[in-house]
Amino acid sequence: MKIFRDYSLLPHNTFGMDVKASVFIEYASVEELKKVLSLYVKDNQWLHIGKGSNLLFTGDFSGIILHSAIKGYEVIHEDTNEVVVRVGAGEVWDDFVAMTVENEWYGAENLSLIPGEVGASAVQNIGAYGVEVKDLIVGVEAIEVSTGKESIFKNEECGYAYRESVFKSSLKYQYLVTHVSYRLKKTPCYHLDYGNIRLELEKQKVRLTLANVRQAIISIREAKLPDPKLQGNAGSFFMNPVISREHFDALLVDYPLIPHYEVDAESIKIPAAWMIDQCGWKGKRLGRAGVHDKQALVLVNLGGAVGAEVIALSEAIQKSVYEKFGINILPEVNFI
Ligand code: EPU
Repeated sequence: MKIFRDYSLLPHNTFGMDVKASVFIEYASVEELKKVLSLYVKDNQWLHIGKGSNLLFTGDFSGIILHSAIKGYEVIHEDTNEVVVRVGAGEVWDDFVAMTVENEWYGAENLSLIPGEVGASAVQNIGAYGVEVKDLIVGVEAIEVSTGKESIFKNEECGYAYRESVFKSSLKYQYLVTHVSYRLKKTPCYHLDYGNIRLELEKQKVRLTLANVRQAIISIREAKLPDPKLQGNAGSFFMNPVISREHFDALLVDYPLIPHYEVDAESIKIPAAWMIDQCGWKGKRLGRAGVHDKQALVLVNLGGAVGAEVIALSEAIQKSVYEKFGINILPEVNFI
């Protein structure tokens, strides 16, 4: 177990906020986590973070920040069609994806290059290019914060929905994820229908293989999303809103080409990026915060921005989207 005091969080948040935590504790096993919970967490203010790729720190954090360094992969089931791999919550998500591709295991490749760690993948139900991690998760092992008790949540007990799970809603602050088990296929099974994956494969003039699909996804992401190492950001800043069919039909009158996805008979999902773009925000700045010039859903730290500047920009964007479309877009990023 490693304990640091007055610790800089700069390497632990992809938005690049220069803030500190009073205490930072990293644990490397379930036993260490139990010890941390009983000795340190108790009545103190605490927050568990992964790679900090979905957070906006608005100032110093006066409590304890917890971070998992539980590592390792273990195949816990294998037959001719599939494998189930149990992974430590502290593994880097994209290292896991790379490992599945090297082993010719299908399913995670569309989620290549998503920043963050394995534990957060199960909390956030990360998704991209037509795949959500809930489609792969078999079970989630977690420790109850108040008792230190170990629990296993089956997929159907995790309350998964778009960027949603029980771990960030009804059970928030009650459980910490230690391991996640994912089911992957051993026979080819691709998801190529979202966006321009096929086009990218054609452009690269390559055969349809798992490694080439991963490479296509990486190229698409790199072309649109800023590298947090070069420009601080937390990926999509807002969630894509779901509106009623009635509201959608009214919008169609003024915007016949509005991009959309049917959620069910009553509800339609509208890309927030498109609306923000329509409001003219792409490439604009407010103070030291800005809207990425290639993907309007991504807010960026243009250098030395503080949380309040990013929030001011996000509120100005929310206001103009509401005024133009009557839709209230909500942040996907957590403000701390
Ligand atoms: N669009 C614009 N202007 C832009 C960007 C996009 O008009 O500046 C339009 C596009 O033409 C398209 C639509 O908006 O019609 C959707 O754009 P895109 O396919 O890029 O996806 P998104 O809805 O903006 C979501 C996820 C991303 C994920 C991509 C790809 C959310 C909040 N975001 O973005 O996830 O990588 O789909 O699957 O669901 C993340 O969560 O951090 C993230 C990056």
